[in-house]
Amino acid sequence: MNTRFLDACWGKPVDRTPVWLMRQAGRYLPEYMAVRSRCTFLELCKTPELAAEVTIQPVDILGVDAAILFSDILTPVEPMGLKLDFVPGPVFENPVRTMADVERLRIPNPEEDVPYVLDTIKILRRELAGKVPLIGFGGAPFTLACYMVEGKGSKDWANIKRMMYAAPEVYAALMEKVTMMDMEYLNAQIRAGAQAIQIFDTWGGVLSPTDYEKFVLPYTTKLINGLDRKSTPVIHFVKGAGTILETVQKAGGDVMGLDWHVNLGKARDILGPKVAVQGNLDPTVLYAPREVIEAEVRRVLDENAGRPGHIFNLGHGILPTVPPENAIHMVECVHRLSQK
Ligand code: CP3
Repeated sequence: MNTRFLDACWGKPVDRTPVWLMRQAGRYLPEYMAVRSRCTFLELCKTPELAAEVTIQPVDILGVDAAILFSDILTPVEPMGLKLDFVPGPVFENPVRTMADVERLRIPNPEEDVPYVLDTIKILRRELAGKVPLIGFGGAPFTLACYMVEGKGSKDWANIKRMMYAAPEVYAALMEKVTMMDMEYLNAQIRAGAQAIQIFDTWGGVLSPTDYEKFVLPYTTKLINGLDRKSTPVIHFVKGAGTILETVQKAGGDVMGLDWHVNLGKARDILGPKVAVQGNLDPTVLYAPREVIEAEVRRVLDENAGRPGHIFNLGHGILPTVPPENAIHMVECVHRLSQK
């Protein structure tokens, strides 16, 4: 029974710092590519036995302290009524632009509309058998809305920002619906057996601090307040939030995910001792020689300075061209250097 990750989420002392990697199941692993070569990414997400298999791969290969459900933040958006494809980035054929588009969106019933996600969680709890905890996840309402309005990834997210400024009532109606969907979806993951929830707000940092507070914070706050958190910690990761940590903290959440643009120690000084943190090695450090990886792991651990409530992670997802042995080495360094 490895409870190190959950203990750290609750700010309890641990024997050594728990570590996992965002996007730890994925294309940098030949074992993932072998499974992926037999189906599309969406088919993989929708086949519980295969999704469970690739979820467990990094637990066995890297020795991480948590598993994260294999799926995508956009999986539950498809049954809202948007036609989804991955090329490999996500593409929606019919993006949301008008009030009529928002009105057409339905709020899925997770048990009926995404049963494969809940089945994957059930298989995983059985197969992991307490070896490491299972993290469920979803996109934050804003990041989901970014893709829904834009129809694909974007550098400037001009379409959703235009909606925000020029048609605030359409934006608000969309965000309300996405927040309701997210709440149902994440609570269903908790009921199915997810032992922690991570909310990914990959694009929350593209707004001014004032706009974040006005257009994002109310919805994420509502979402987090609506989750069944009694025994399930919530990790809130907003990429690019280094300058607005105190604002982001108002959303609630037990753990704040940090990207690598902040000094982890300074972030902890700002956030105070009641909230745990997760992060925050620059993902490209995993291209460095072994001794540089070790020095960078040591630096992040030193910034935390032994405070309880630290989960080691990258500051964003692992990149597809990283050599797996470097990720294995990083995990080993975290465990060895933090051993009490
Ligand atoms: O962390 C894990 O191992 C769990 C699986 C996971 C995936 N996507 C699998 C995936 C998680 C947690 C996500 C979250 C996700 N998806 C986010 C938030 C996190 C982040 O990275 O910012 C976002 C923005 C998405 C949307 C998405 N899905 C994009 C932009 C892409 C393309 C990425 C790329 O680098 O090309 C995807 C596809 C995707 N999601 C892949 C995987 C393993 C690659 C698909 C493939 O095998 O072809």
